[in-house]
Amino acid sequence: MLREMAVPAIRTAKLSKDYGGGRGLFELDLEVSPQEVFGYLGPNGAGKTTTIRLLMDMIRPTAGAAYVFGLDCRRDSIAVKRRVGYLPGDLPQFGSLRGREVVAYLAGMRGGVDSRVVRALAERFDLDLSRRFREYSSGNKQKLGILLAFMHRPELLVLDEPTGGLDPLNQQEFYQLLRETRDGGATVFLSSHILSEVEHVCDRVGILRAGRLVRVAKLNELRASGETNLEEVFLSYYSETDQTHKALPE
Ligand SMILES: Nc1ncnc2c1ncn2[C@@H]1O[C@H](COP(=O)(O)OP(=O)(O)O)[C@@H](O)[C@H]1O
Ligand SMILES: [Mg+2]
Repeated sequence: MLREMAVPAIRTAKLSKDYGGGRGLFELDLEVSPQEVFGYLGPNGAGKTTTIRLLMDMIRPTAGAAYVFGLDCRRDSIAVKRRVGYLPGDLPQFGSLRGREVVAYLAGMRGGVDSRVVRALAERFDLDLSRRFREYSSGNKQKLGILLAFMHRPELLVLDEPTGGLDPLNQQEFYQLLRETRDGGATVFLSSHILSEVEHVCDRVGILRAGRLVRVAKLNELRASGETNLEEVFLSYYSETDQTHKALPE
């Protein structure tokens, strides 16, 4: 454990993806410690998905680098993927495959997973794996995506807007799953555009705006500093009309 503590679960160094026109991600320096639940927050278009795709080597940076457990996300992407559970923002379309066939297919690629874990996840989210993917509601598709990310008990979860499409009951179930996962020793990196949805599960949050990280804070520090209305703090970063990098307070 001590050895693991020395290596950040995620580290980025001036990670950038420039799409032109001021769009993309710019010089992201971020560290996420093992066993943290880190909330990556920002409005639509802030660069959350871009960051996550860079971590998963789905796209290539224009500058900088990213590391997962010390592994280079580009050079060692296969080793990274083996250790990560990834929920993409837009799940692939599995068409007429049944839920359990999708699970079997991806479990096979992982060299097999514990079927008890799969069953337990399906049960707790009340997901019927005998149904065809295309017949699933958006909520059920999201539940399947969550199951696929967690089923091999990865050391790091990288989850792009995981609560999208989940009803409140399933959201609560999902937060409970996050807490258990963290208590079991794993690390969670999740994105969201709604602070109030994730503030109760995150140890720290980073706020991204127009491709730049404008704030990183521990939630208990934010609370202790008198910034009691976190939603207001959060919105103050959203409501800026100019596109300049807002200076960090304190
Ligand atoms: N493939 C692409 N080509 C050009 N621009 C892109 C591409 N992907 C994302 N962008 C732009 O980069 C910015 C960040 O997008 P994204 O990372 O999807 O934001 P978020 O996930 O926070 O909503 C947006 O302005 C988006 O339009
Ligand atoms: Mg996104």
